Amino acid sequence: MDQPTSCLSHVLIFPFPVQGHVNCMLKLAQLLCREGLHVTFLNSDFIHRRLLSYTNIHLSYKQYPNLYFETIPDGLPDDHPRTGDRVVDLFNSIDTVTKPRFMEMLIARRFSILDRPPLTCIIADGIMCFTIDIGRELNIPTILFRTISASCFWAFFCLPRLIEAGELPITGQSDMDTLLTNVVGMETFLRLRDLPSFCRASDLTDRGLQLVISATQLTKSAHGLILNTFEELEGPALAQITNNISKLYTIGPLHVQLKARVATNIKLTCTSSSSLWEEDRSCIVWLDQQPFKSVIYVSFGSMTVLTRDQFMEFLHGFVNSGKPFLWVVRPKSVAEDYQIPEELLEGTRQRGYIVEWAPQEEVLAHPAIGGFLTHSGWNSTLESIYEGVPMICWPFYADQQVNSRLVGEVWKIGLDMKDTCDRVIIENMVKDLIETRKDEFAKSARLMTKLARKSVSENGSSYCNLDRLIKDIKLMRN
Ligand code: UDX
Repeated sequence: MDQPTSCLSHVLIFPFPVQGHVNCMLKLAQLLCREGLHVTFLNSDFIHRRLLSYTNIHLSYKQYPNLYFETIPDGLPDDHPRTGDRVVDLFNSIDTVTKPRFMEMLIARRFSILDRPPLTCIIADGIMCFTIDIGRELNIPTILFRTISASCFWAFFCLPRLIEAGELPITGQSDMDTLLTNVVGMETFLRLRDLPSFCRASDLTDRGLQLVISATQLTKSAHGLILNTFEELEGPALAQITNNISKLYTIGPLHVQLKARVATNIKLTCTSSSSLWEEDRSCIVWLDQQPFKSVIYVSFGSMTVLTRDQFMEFLHGFVNSGKPFLWVVRPKSVAEDYQIPEELLEGTRQRGYIVEWAPQEEVLAHPAIGGFLTHSGWNSTLESIYEGVPMICWPFYADQQVNSRLVGEVWKIGLDMKDTCDRVIIENMVKDLIETRKDEFAKSARLMTKLARKSVSENGSSYCNLDRLIKDIKLMRN
């Protein structure tokens, strides 16, 4: 007798090995397992060791007997930071070390051991598009997963057009506030200043710029594209992408989709943390003592590195705002040594709480949180939208410049502070967000939250798109 179709489907999920990418791809892994698919999650050795150290991953994933973890080297020594500008080294070592190893593992059928069926589909991080060719050689369809916003993906897609039209490269004469005409659907708000950070290279042969251009164009030859967003949030960009990519699955916000589906399944009791640092839960106890919607939560994600001067401007701004602040200062996230100046010690002690890593989703859901000062990483943006928390955006790099423009100008759920880092501006923006303009932001934030919830509820757009993805994967055969 044939096994049920689901039991023959085996998906390999392969994220780019950094926190923001692992987080959402691991959520997708759990969602697919929940539907009976076999899933092998391919982590870098480095990431996997950290997950084992800082999470209860080995326990909580026991509820998914069809989820398997495998590891692969990322080619860097353990003490390499893999953050800030140094992430370029990770791209290089993935190309020289991980890519050939991945090929060897697939040829050796490394993932089809014991009772696991042969691989029927690869879901690979969209910035590792070498997986498409390798998959094709072995007759395994590859779907790409981009962890960025649809609007940023579309901006990347339009880069050849921008270059052809002379809107890029940026030169000393460029007016950064000029609206761009060649990112169709976003002409009314996207300025030169809001393009992804790679576009600031003055040389068009810049490796980062060329890498995103080619990775984005190669998406067309993949079997499909998954985006962690929802139709109601990024309609104009999605309408353009659909015209260029044959199979598009918008299934976000994934962290909510997972919570919603787990809640309806009595066998699955929890979703697991995937933090690469130890979560300091004492901040929740501190939040419990703060007034309703009074606290500004500050986090720059897992890869931003501040200079000492920037750190000091932020600290002055927070203390001078007079508002309580909870600040995540990751180890090694300030480039130089620093000391809190004498005049700020009292204000920091009275109103501030600093941790190395927080349980962010829980923090954003806490009633004491009134705003989020963020680097506009896409996961953080979606998590904030879902909880209805307005944002001050200080984009650092990659897709974040686009995301902060969406927050400030399109969705109007916060303020975009890009390209400045000044204590007076920070102080005023914190006061605006938490106090002066709080009702205005709360109103638009509530609307976005409602749309996000609807998209993952039964018959919602992301809910149906995830079902379609699962159905399409189940039809794939090796
Ligand atoms: C990066 C990019 O910036 C992002 O835009 C891209 O889409 C994915 O990779 P990162 O810079 O780390 O990720 O930011 P973000 O996407 O916001 O991801 C950070 C994740 O870490 C979030 O899921 C957040 O909840 C989590 N986090 C952050 C914590 O759990 N605790 C913290 O203290 C800080």
